Amino acid sequence: MSTVIKGGTIVTADLSYQADVLIEGDRIAAIGADLEGDTVLDATGAYVMPGGIDPHTHLEMPFMGTYSSDDFDSGTRAALSGGTTMVVDFALPAPGESLLDALKVWDNKSGRAHCDYSFHMAVTWWGPQVFEEMKAVTEKGINTFKHFMAYKGSLMVNDDEMFASFRRCAELGAIPLVHAENGDVVAELSARLLAEGNTGPEAHAYSRPAQVEGEATNRAIMIADMAGAPLYVVHVSCEDAHEAIRRAKMLGKRVWGEPLIQHLTLDESEYFNKDWNHAARRVMSPPFRDKRHQDSLWAGLASGTLSCVATDHCAFTTEQKRFGVGDFTKIPNGTGGLEDRMPMLWTHGVETGRLTPSEFVAVTSTNIAKILNCYPRKGAVLVGADADLMVLDPKKEKVIAAATQQSAIDYNVFEGQRVRGLPRYVLSRGRVMVDDGELKPKEGHGQFVARPPAGPVSTALSTWKALTAPRPVERAGIPASGV
Ligand code: URP
Ligand code: ZN
Ligand code: ZN
Ligand code: ZN
Repeated sequence: MSTVIKGGTIVTADLSYQADVLIEGDRIAAIGADLEGDTVLDATGAYVMPGGIDPHTHLEMPFMGTYSSDDFDSGTRAALSGGTTMVVDFALPAPGESLLDALKVWDNKSGRAHCDYSFHMAVTWWGPQVFEEMKAVTEKGINTFKHFMAYKGSLMVNDDEMFASFRRCAELGAIPLVHAENGDVVAELSARLLAEGNTGPEAHAYSRPAQVEGEATNRAIMIADMAGAPLYVVHVSCEDAHEAIRRAKMLGKRVWGEPLIQHLTLDESEYFNKDWNHAARRVMSPPFRDKRHQDSLWAGLASGTLSCVATDHCAFTTEQKRFGVGDFTKIPNGTGGLEDRMPMLWTHGVETGRLTPSEFVAVTSTNIAKILNCYPRKGAVLVGADADLMVLDPKKEKVIAAATQQSAIDYNVFEGQRVRGLPRYVLSRGRVMVDDGELKPKEGHGQFVARPPAGPVSTALSTWKALTAPRPVERAGIPASGV
């Protein structure tokens, strides 16, 4: 059985043109004029683009005494409903736990996925076992290792551990990722705020000012540079962190930054809402910022100093958020966004002229596939690529509402936002998952996407580092004495 998407404008990260797309089985079989297929999807007046890739999700993650409420079922339904056809989730070993055991747990959970997925591996502790297992993890098709510089006492790793792990990444051709916030300072500020009677959700924002993110981002960049590894900074929320990334890039360091759709469109005033639930539902790390930081993030996407837009989808119900009544440090950190990332970015990015349609494709899909080393199987409209596609109708609109979302939680941080640019069709490896705007999910359809190490940037950087490594000065003869 073949499918043809007819009459649309193909938009890729580098060009737009009119053509039909023929799909046979899982893959794109032909691109051209007047193609025929068994099933015809009408893309008249719409854009045909690579399905979104969300490089940062936490589905059914054990965290802060509970589990995030969207699992691989509801989470990937939400993804597809919003035009995202692949998610990259974090396998999270508990401190002391084997990385390979954690991977088995994530393998089990992901059996429910409706769309394709991959994993990052978190390095939550350090020792010879982690060093050894990192190699086995890369051999399983996971080339990215996440380090938390925050969450002191649970997930946080120190600089010596990070340096050792980054060096191991460099050796293996893998990419370290960082959650960049100074966890020591956050812990001090949190304790002081609580002691002063600042117990509400707004104190979460006070405890994590932009400086803690700017400092940690700069520190991680310098440590990665000394370790000879590239660096991917997740959830860049502020100018302070963006400035460090921008400066590093201008110096030729291989650093990428990932803003979230939440930080691009929501600001810190949410935490001052009189309704405790409203504010607590928006507690995440880093917190939402003053509006001026949003301008910086948008500028980064337009200029290329920031590379990808993610969600960090980590959804907790209001009941879970209420664990933190009376103590903001106990509010589970995380917000949702999987279903909303693409329409929110199209509406606030493309419709406002901040991004071109090709830039939209780059930051939601193609750049991510290239950095994570699964391009052009993913992130491309090319013959031979997986048929993970979205047909985006620029006239289709809706108002975001928890009542109609796929996510399992009881609210949506974008509630009431009118968005335009919705999927008419979404295909996951050739299967139509959104059909004329209607979700037709299939549990278990999703497959693991292996991402081998030694991608082009890792190889180029290790070549450069080997060429410029310290080496002894060759001297003809060494005098017997200093005279
Ligand atoms: O608050 C957040 N971001 N929760 C998810 C875990 C993380 O730090 O990415
Ligand atoms: Zn994080
Ligand atoms: Zn509210
Ligand atoms: Zn995260």
